[in-house]
Amino acid sequence: MNPIPVLKPDMPSVEDLLPYLRRIDEAQQYANFGPLCLELEKRLSADCAALSEQPVALTTVANCTVGLQLALMASVDRPRVKVLVPSLTFPGTVSGILQAGFEPVLADVDPSRWVLTPEIARAAMNRVRGIRAIMPVAAFGGALDADAWDQLTEDTGVPVVIDAAGAFGNQCIGRHTVVAYSMHATKALGAGEGGFVVARDAEIVARVRRLSNFGYMSAGGLISDIGVNGKMSEYAAAVGLAALDRWPEISAARRRLMTAYRQALTDTCPEIVLQERAAGGVYSLGVVRLPDRLRAETVAEFLASRGIGSRRWYCPGIYAHPAFLALTQADDHVVVKHLDQHLLGLPFHLQMSLADIERVTAALQAILALGGRGRAGVAKATRSSSSRGAHLRAVG
Ligand SMILES: Cc1ncc(COP(=O)(O)O)c(C=O)c1O
Repeated sequence: MNPIPVLKPDMPSVEDLLPYLRRIDEAQQYANFGPLCLELEKRLSADCAALSEQPVALTTVANCTVGLQLALMASVDRPRVKVLVPSLTFPGTVSGILQAGFEPVLADVDPSRWVLTPEIARAAMNRVRGIRAIMPVAAFGGALDADAWDQLTEDTGVPVVIDAAGAFGNQCIGRHTVVAYSMHATKALGAGEGGFVVARDAEIVARVRRLSNFGYMSAGGLISDIGVNGKMSEYAAAVGLAALDRWPEISAARRRLMTAYRQALTDTCPEIVLQERAAGGVYSLGVVRLPDRLRAETVAEFLASRGIGSRRWYCPGIYAHPAFLALTQADDHVVVKHLDQHLLGLPFHLQMSLADIERVTAALQAILALGGRGRAGVAKATRSSSSRGAHLRAVG
């Protein structure tokens, strides 16, 4: 039986890239905000402005982690402040805060949306003194409520930098929020490595741009702030532009994939819960919450025995990693500790067919029926799947 990998990047082909690579050859500019980078920024900012229904400023960066670091540095003008961050996230979120010289404070998440909400943040700020910035995460690409975070900034004066690494096409830019996206190859819009920072406030974005270019105020001029080399190269911009050319096709195919999965899970495994997030979003991961009686580890093992890949994205929570044990915790993380054991990323990529989805859901149905007795207990389960079917990418 063909293995079904958990993830397969969907990147532009050589043919898609060639026209952009030729332009690099002709211009002979390879870095430092060259013409392709500027074009990518213009096109991305038009897309973000359209989704957010307001003008925005945007700067490209080498990756989302550095974008988060610089967005925080640009938003907070005091040293060593505490930054509230959800414990359910990719370690890069916390690294970005630490690299900016700030102190991460870990918080729990909402049980249905799996994200830090303004309500949880307000409670944490009452408990832990000195929180001067917040970095909520659009976990697994599920967009955050930018209006609610704007309201928190208006009420408290605390800046909010959203980690929207995997949420391009879903996450709106608020009036006050600064938002960082990733263009890693695993994201719906991939450049290999890359990212961008967007905000309504052009001053903040200009500061991020300076910080990403060592802090230069102008080319070859004086340094205003101590920055880093966080710029995107022209080659990454070429891939980003070729990916953007395919965005209508990619986003439609990812929407179809999500719809097909949602339907298949609802029909066959209603006990398995999807993240509560806006319908019609563009997602690059398919993470589910298993019922309490099934542990993610057991299900992952069972799926593997049937050639089906899975991944426990973001699990365990940040609080459990040796490097982060000493971080302050704003609460006891009841929800994250539960999700740690029950979240599982299922295969989710554009080379999957409807038959592949059926194979995944049939395997889940089998282990649900066996009540999570593990690989040995489920070895005799009926195997029902077929290899027919076209890739979802091609299904109209
Ligand atoms: C929530 C989150 N934040 C940050 C990152 C890091 O992004 P990058 O690899 O572009 O630095 C990721 C990567 O997957 C992520 O999922």
